[in-house]
This record gives sequence, structure tokens and C-alpha cells, in this order.
Amino acid sequence: MNYLDFYKLNEEPFSSAPDIKFYYNSAQHSKALVRLMYAVDSMKGLALLIGDIGTGKTTLARRMLDSLPEEEYESALLVIIHSGITADWLLKKIAMQLGISEPSENKITLLSQLYGRLSELYEQRKKAVVLIDEAQMLKTREMMEEFRGLLNLEATDRKLITFVFFGLPEIEDNLMLDGPLAQRVALKYRLESFNYESTEAYIKHRLGLAGSKDEIFAPDAIEKIHRYSKGIPRMINIITSNALFEGFLVKAKLIDGRIIDGVTADLGITDLQTEKKEMGEATAAEEQEIIIEQHPAAQELNPPKQKTVASAQRITPKITEVKAKPQKKEELDEIDSILDKLEKGG
Ligand SMILES: Nc1ncnc2c1ncn2[C@@H]1O[C@H](COP(=O)(O)OP(=O)(O)OP(=O)(O)O)[C@@H](O)[C@H]1O
Ligand SMILES: [Mg+2]
Repeated sequence: MNYLDFYKLNEEPFSSAPDIKFYYNSAQHSKALVRLMYAVDSMKGLALLIGDIGTGKTTLARRMLDSLPEEEYESALLVIIHSGITADWLLKKIAMQLGISEPSENKITLLSQLYGRLSELYEQRKKAVVLIDEAQMLKTREMMEEFRGLLNLEATDRKLITFVFFGLPEIEDNLMLDGPLAQRVALKYRLESFNYESTEAYIKHRLGLAGSKDEIFAPDAIEKIHRYSKGIPRMINIITSNALFEGFLVKAKLIDGRIIDGVTADLGITDLQTEKKEMGEATAAEEQEIIIEQHPAAQELNPPKQKTVASAQRITPKITEVKAKPQKKEELDEIDSILDKLEKGG
């Protein structure tokens, strides 16, 4: 017998893959999605979705791609897998994603191919939208200039292409490499970590999809999961999947707070209150050690402990929504009313 049988689950409920099937439309994700959909619907040019590690950016990007109707959008999701890619490579990728089967090696020809294709899409009343995940890895000025060039392509009433960058907050520093591009950010949204209600609903949602019919986590366990994970979905998954395994080993049909304490201690995750207390009591030497532990050079000598991973998650993300260009009052009112309608599902 394994833990799936023990808890009567058909499959692993808290897998770490950003699987769309398990998507939970939390208040945080839903707010972000409504705004991003508005940005692409009105072809704003450039929108940013930033969030701390593991908050669900990739999951949201995939969900968004799924939500763009084919009749209306020519859309693609590009994932930047390393920071060494060149601007030429990127342009070619974008061209291919937009349906140019043989992108030219010659940059001028490639740009004119792109312009031709974007105009064709415009004639067909289709919106060209490219989502870029891990966008914090786009690091060169040359790359930023390329985006700016593409964003300059406009018809009389709208941009010919819209990009949505998904990534860590440092994206914004990279955008500053090209001031005029930074100014073109029409919408920025910060993905918040889950509040308590979302954490609880998220856990139940995933368990339900995995086939669970009984209560598996007691209320005090859920409270502790929220506290230790700080509402960050990846941390919730790590804690809950470890707790399911641990619960199975000790044959606990109902997982309680004590099991969560044990599992998080094994993982080296501490909650904020305990951390503060410990820091208060720590000697100067111990504090020093914590600083050294986080220094990259020290990490090479001393591989980081789980605790460092937990510390990286310590900052609780806040929602801040900024429309970069100062907009007129009427424009803002219009945006608000559209967002309202979208939020009400209209
Ligand atoms: N709304 C959601 N519904 C279901 N699962 C989610 C949701 N948000 C996040 N997750 C889960 O949390 C984990 C982390 O999500 P994801 O990979 O999307 O985060 P991320 O912000 O892209 O992380 P990173 O900063 O490492 O790129 C995944 O296992 C994913 O399945
Ligand atoms: Mg990601």
C-alpha cells in the first residue's frame, strides 16, 4: 500500500508541475488574470506580471494562453531558459511563433517579414500576443531595444503586437536598461501570495481533483500550512505532499498540526513568529552566521540548507498595480468600469 491508496487518492494531488488541470482560480490569480486579459484585449503593447518565487506565475501564463480564443488571437508562450540568448534568436522565435515558417537569417528581411505578418493578422482582425515566461532572464540592452522596435509597430487604432512578461520583480531593473521601453509598460501587476482562505480552498481543490472524498487535513493543519508556506503555492505543495507521506507512515487518516510541525522542521522551514523570536535571542555570532549563509560565495563552499530556501520566501508579496503612463481621468474610469465588468464575468 502507498499513501495514495491510504488516503483514497487517484493521483498525486500536490505535484510540483504547473499542470493546468489542477489550476485553482484563487482571488489573487483571478485578479491578475482579469487585468492581463484586459491588457491584451485592448492591445496595450507591454504588460508585466511580477511575483516572488513559486507564487504561480508560470501556472498563470499557461492558464492565460489557454484562455485566449483562437479566433481572436494569434498567441504564443515563450519560455526563456537561459540568460545567454541573443536578440536575433529571440526575434526569430517570435517570428516562428507568429506563423512565419521560414524566418530569414538576415535581420532586415526578418523584420520586414514580421511586419508583413503582423499587418496580415491585423487585416484578419486578429491580435498578436506573445507571453514570455522567465522574462527576468532577458538581460541585455540590445534585447530591450528589439522589444521597443516591435512595440513601435502600430496601426491607426492599436499596436500590432502585445507582449506580456512574466517573471521575478528584477524584470523591472532589466527594463530600465532601455528607459523608453520601461516607459511603454502599460500595466504592471504583482501576484500576491495566497491569503488564508485561498490556501485552504487551494488545498481542498487539489485534493478534490485527485479524487479525495474525505477530510484529510484538520483545520489546525491547514492553519499551520498557511503559516509555514506564507501562502506561496509551491511551498504549500512541498509541505502538503510531505505531510501526506508522513501521515501515511504514522497511519493518521486525519493529518493534524503536529504532523505539519514535524514535516516543516524536517524541511528546515520555520514560520515568521518563531524566526523573529529566534533572531531576538540569537547571539551576534549566530546572526553573522545567517548573513554568511546567504552570501553566494559562502554558498559555494557550504551548500545552502533548506532554511535558506525558506528565507528566500520570507518576503510576503504585496499587490501593487501601476499604470506606467499617467492616464487621463476618463481613461482611468473607463478601465475601471471594464475591469469591473470582467470581474463580474460580463
Ligand atoms: N493557481 C494555481 N492553481 C494550481 N496550482 C498552482 C497555482 N499557482 C501555483 N500553483 C502550483 O504551485 C507551484 C509553483 O507554481 P509556478 O511554477 O507557476 O510558480 P512560479 O511563480 O512560476 O515559480 P518560479 O518563480 O520558480 O518560476 C506549481 O506546482 C503549481 O502547480
Ligand atoms: Mg515559473
